[in-house]
Amino acid sequence: MARYRDALRPEAERYGVELPPLGLTDDDHFAAKVELAIAYRIPLVSFTFGVPSAAVVRALRDAGSAVLITVTSGAEARRALTVEPAGLIAQGGSAGGHAATLDPAGYRGERGAPEVLAEVLAVTDRPVLAAGGGDVPGLRSAGAAAVQCGTAFLLAEEAGTRAVQRAAMRSGEFRETVVTRAFTGQPARALRNRFVEAYSAIAPVGYPAIHHLTAPIRAAAARQGDASALNLWAGVGHATTRPGSTAALVDELQA
Ligand SMILES: Cc1cc2nc3c(=O)[nH]c(=O)nc-3n(C[C@H](O)[C@H](O)[C@H](O)COP(=O)(O)O)c2cc1C
Repeated sequence: MARYRDALRPEAERYGVELPPLGLTDDDHFAAKVELAIAYRIPLVSFTFGVPSAAVVRALRDAGSAVLITVTSGAEARRALTVEPAGLIAQGGSAGGHAATLDPAGYRGERGAPEVLAEVLAVTDRPVLAAGGGDVPGLRSAGAAAVQCGTAFLLAEEAGTRAVQRAAMRSGEFRETVVTRAFTGQPARALRNRFVEAYSAIAPVGYPAIHHLTAPIRAAAARQGDASALNLWAGVGHATTRPGSTAALVDELQA
């Protein structure tokens, strides 16, 4: 991670920002987030990047939450089932944004949602949601209890998507997506831009340390309207993403 920080110095200079020191003990406020979910009795709480302890799942269940754990393979599903979640989310490699994988060093995101869904359904009778690619009717008929979509909402009126990402998505300039650890240290699917090209090969595993390390660069790039160093999270289906209200987009996805 220290070598990666050194490699990013030219980017810091380019955008006129300081790289923060590496925060290697940061757990992203895990316990505080769980406490908050319990206090507010959130009806549905999903986990990603790992399997929470059985005690955390039990505490959420006692507060009235249905707990879901996101997995990317049958083997990860078996690990997640040991803490007795209400259900699982089977995330395919086509999904936009971060991958839930427990193997961030080896994950390539090459398996589609139908394949991962079938593998997860084979190891549990609990409800399984599918994520990745946004083929709602197809994944529902393949046994998914529901389908989680992200990319399809990136241009929604209500979405918090930055103006520079909206413009990048509509420009047609970025055609390919790629799974990269360059921005956050956890594999994530993003539009292939200059930053992805330059740093994916040397980016270490290390969420959230790498997320915090690159945050000032990404913030400055966004301020400057420069999409070349932004984490343009998007799934393989990004070219079909349309603007509109969330309600209209949900209707279209179900058709
Ligand atoms: C911009 C963006 C942000 C996301 N943030 C999260 C998140 O915070 N937590 C999470 O579990 N999944 C997150 N995801 C992943 C989605 O939950 C889902 O797995 C994925 O979007 C489904 O594939 P699709 O993008 O092809 O629809 C995000 C996806 C995108 C595109």
